[in-house]
Amino acid sequence: MAEIGRIAEVAGYLWEKGWAERNGGNISVNLTDTLTPGELAMEPVQAGIALQEPAGELKGDVFYVTGTGKRMRYVAQAPFANGALIRIAGDGASYDILAEKPIPPTSELPSHLLMHNYLRASGRQTKVVLHTHPTDLIGLTHCRPYLDSDKLTRLLWSMIPECRIIVPKGIGIVPYEIPGTLALAHATIRQLSRHDVVFWEKHGILAVGEDIIDCFDAIDTLSKSAQIFFSARAAGYEPEGMNDRQLDDLADAFQL
Ligand code: 13P
Ligand code: ZN
Repeated sequence: MAEIGRIAEVAGYLWEKGWAERNGGNISVNLTDTLTPGELAMEPVQAGIALQEPAGELKGDVFYVTGTGKRMRYVAQAPFANGALIRIAGDGASYDILAEKPIPPTSELPSHLLMHNYLRASGRQTKVVLHTHPTDLIGLTHCRPYLDSDKLTRLLWSMIPECRIIVPKGIGIVPYEIPGTLALAHATIRQLSRHDVVFWEKHGILAVGEDIIDCFDAIDTLSKSAQIFFSARAAGYEPEGMNDRQLDDLADAFQL
């Protein structure tokens, strides 16, 4: 399970970045394609846990998910003491916990599974949902004028060329909802038809993708843009930002 090593690597980055206070953030990765038939058929340590909403596209799929209340800095050190493998049941309505201890999954499981389910139904190869709490990006969601997808995307793209290239679909914004709720989950999947990165107002950021390192990099690049913006402001000037022409030229040059 080489993928577990990459999950642990990213969990360590989240902590080092200061994006993972206490148990902040959570990760789910669909491991089905990487597991042997024996691993996929593992005996559960806890079976038949009902899902709040069925995930019919994910029948039989196995995910690594971080545990609720678990700290990213410890996920980095011991992924299976701070997370679990879960397998979605054949009817898509419940899941089993397979290994190693019956660690209850993240409270954001409804969002994670709804996203995986939606993305699979859309024919995408997404394997990863990464949710974290970057200080600078969350800070931007406290500013009403920036709670606008086009405006915030434009601002962050314009701070550094890489942002336009690495986050080509820009960012979606979900108005504040109580963490862990189906309401948050449903509002989030509505953003995924257009975006791979979604901001949860006054709470956190999530990225979806095929590869966990790419998901981390997308959020890290957005965070870099936010830091450039805030440091210019702190120095007493309004950052000029790249202009529309410069951003469009990047789209042409990189076929975005
Ligand atoms: P969990 O510890 O349940 O994963 O919750 C952390 C979090 O960030 C909720 O959004
Ligand atoms: Zn959170």
